[in-house]
Amino acid sequence: MSQTPSTTANRTVGIAILGLGTVGSEVLRLIGVQADALAHRIGGGIEIKGVAVSDASRPREGVDPALLTEDAMSLINRDDVEIVVEVIGGIDYPRELVLAALRAGKSVVTANKALVAAHADELSAAADEAGVDLYFEAAVAAAIPVVGMLRRSLAGDQIQSIAGIVNGTTNYILDAMDTTGADYEEMLAEAMELGYAEADPTADVEGHDAASKAAILASLGFHTRVKYDDVYCEGISKITADDIKAARTAGYAIKLLAICEKLQGEDGRDYVSARVHPALVPREHPLASVSKSYNAIFVEAEAAGSLMFYGNGAGGAPTASAVLGDIVGAARNKVHGGRAPGDSTYANLPVADFGQVLTRYHIDMQVCDRTGVLADLAKIFAENNISMRAVRQEKSGDNARLIVVTHTAREKNLAATVEQLRKCDAVKKVTSVIRLENEDV
Ligand code: NDP
Ligand code: HSE
Repeated sequence: MSQTPSTTANRTVGIAILGLGTVGSEVLRLIGVQADALAHRIGGGIEIKGVAVSDASRPREGVDPALLTEDAMSLINRDDVEIVVEVIGGIDYPRELVLAALRAGKSVVTANKALVAAHADELSAAADEAGVDLYFEAAVAAAIPVVGMLRRSLAGDQIQSIAGIVNGTTNYILDAMDTTGADYEEMLAEAMELGYAEADPTADVEGHDAASKAAILASLGFHTRVKYDDVYCEGISKITADDIKAARTAGYAIKLLAICEKLQGEDGRDYVSARVHPALVPREHPLASVSKSYNAIFVEAEAAGSLMFYGNGAGGAPTASAVLGDIVGAARNKVHGGRAPGDSTYANLPVADFGQVLTRYHIDMQVCDRTGVLADLAKIFAENNISMRAVRQEKSGDNARLIVVTHTAREKNLAATVEQLRKCDAVKKVTSVIRLENEDV
């Protein structure tokens, strides 16, 4: 692999790569094989000055050992490094590194959604102060250029919602459970083996990774700072094989969705909302057929209308593609001058309480099989101002299985209904409650 500068350019931009795992190793490989083409696109060459890892003594195939260091901070501070690429992961240590790089006048490219979603204010202020770039295309949906699309292509439009599948690992697991009846743990192990999962895969399965991405998307789309902590988050760890089978029978797929939208609160004011949770999606909706580790994102914008983005949402090469695009952008700015679009948070909308969100519930219950039960339950729904769209009942041993699908209502009213149902004598068990999204009613 060539890690020397291209000979086609007069000016060479020095790059430090922090991390040489799934993503970093692909970034380094692609820079090696595409050095000349990249130099033409940039109008100047790029040269890898060093690569920080946690264990520099470990041999890495195709990598010059002289490039490796365990001292990331010294690498960042080298005079010949102009761009720092952070692909380590985690929050606290990369935050230190990225802030140090920005404050030292280096542009930064990161794939780290957890870092950006937690510390965007601080990072973006440091970039502005130093007049350098902070790029993070790979942080959301890997290869899908959704960050650039929101920052640049849709910068003149009014976005109403951004929603879809933004975590490859959970989609890989749910898709396999749905199509082959595969086991949850086995599929998680496979997603880890394939390099899709985070270092701690709890971040994937509990929805934290998707919540970080939702925070980034909502911030960009609504020109409002939305942080990780502002995002309501439920993962897929409680979804059972039975839930998936029941969903399939009823004509749905279960997907982990990230939904960012503008909504009107009960007080009539406009809010931003961002949430991540499993949801039933009708089989005929395009999201239902998003398979393996693919991601898909739908954007509704006032002038553009409906847009759909689909592609590889995880893995070394797809993520490296997005990182490389950012490196080219940052290097062009170093060679020719100028800066990437920065943060835009002027709208500063309040973030809605999750209870204000409008959604629908699919409630599966075991109830007593006796006269008057339906009337008792209907009263609970009515008291909470919830309208039922469909009710299905079937015999289940000594009890009856009752499935209620609601009309759209505020989350707080739906949740209160379920709480009352759980306490109702006629209800033996609330087997599952799953939100239902993307169904036209
Ligand atoms: P890996 O765990 O595969 O790689 C992490 C790398 O960081 C390793 O090379 C490791 O060194 C190095 N590292 C760890 N600690 C230190 C340290 N203290 N100093 C220097 N180097 C260190 O992670 P990924 O490549 O999967 O992910 C990297 C980032 O990219 C994360 O933020 C992740 O969220 C993001 N991302 C990942 C995607 C994916 O599909 N994998 C997709 C999109 C974004 P060593 O090799 O010695 O262990
Ligand atoms: N762990 C993440 C996922 C990587 O599975 O989507 C891509 O951001």
